[in-house]
Amino acid sequence: MIKIAPSILSADFAKLAEEVKEVERAGADYIHIDVMDGHFVPNITFGPLAVRALRPVTELPLDVHLMIENPDRYIPEFAEAGADIITVHAEACPHLHRTVQLIRSHGVKAGVVLNPHTPPDVLDYVIGELDMVLIMTVNPGFGGQSFIREVVPKIERTAAMIKERGLDTEIEVDGGVTEDTVAECARAGATVFVAGSAIFGKEDRPAALQGIRNAAAA
Ligand code: DX5
Ligand code: ZN
Repeated sequence: MIKIAPSILSADFAKLAEEVKEVERAGADYIHIDVMDGHFVPNITFGPLAVRALRPVTELPLDVHLMIENPDRYIPEFAEAGADIITVHAEACPHLHRTVQLIRSHGVKAGVVLNPHTPPDVLDYVIGELDMVLIMTVNPGFGGQSFIREVVPKIERTAAMIKERGLDTEIEVDGGVTEDTVAECARAGATVFVAGSAIFGKEDRPAALQGIRNAAAA
């Protein structure tokens, strides 16, 4: 029921394969890959080539979070590189429905990400097409930021929307997720938890991952 998606943004980039294998052995459910373009967000990270390089390293689904402008231009490349889930920001997609269809047309699971200030209402006419809703609990761009607690009611509203419509859309939470913040997200209805610094920033990654999983279930 509870899934943990370690974000490699906080991993050691010089040994990404080992880092991914370590969290896979530790029981991770997804590998979360933060793609940033220096425009939609101020930081620059990975492109499709990194996804392609990581594909043979792990059996886990690659959960690719696109923090980029004009994602339609790159979705085919990320799909071909081996992404299993592609999430796009509602704020970056004037034709969100079309973008979601584009992801699906490549046989990839589709998700929409909401920045902290974005209301869940933008999902109203597209949620039936989604495998995942990703709710940001920090402003995207960097790892290690503080959890924005004001966003928790949005998780509840999204969970209610999914339940009312009888959907099985996953709710993922991203940003500032730790042993101390994960339980309130789980209670609000999230089932997938991204954690970067709270896993890769720790010496003992298996213990950190298990600690977050236990706290989510508590
Ligand atoms: C932030 C990214 C997150 C980031 C989370 O823009 O989308 O996935 O890695 O990092 P932590 O868990 O350290 O807040
Ligand atoms: Zn992310």
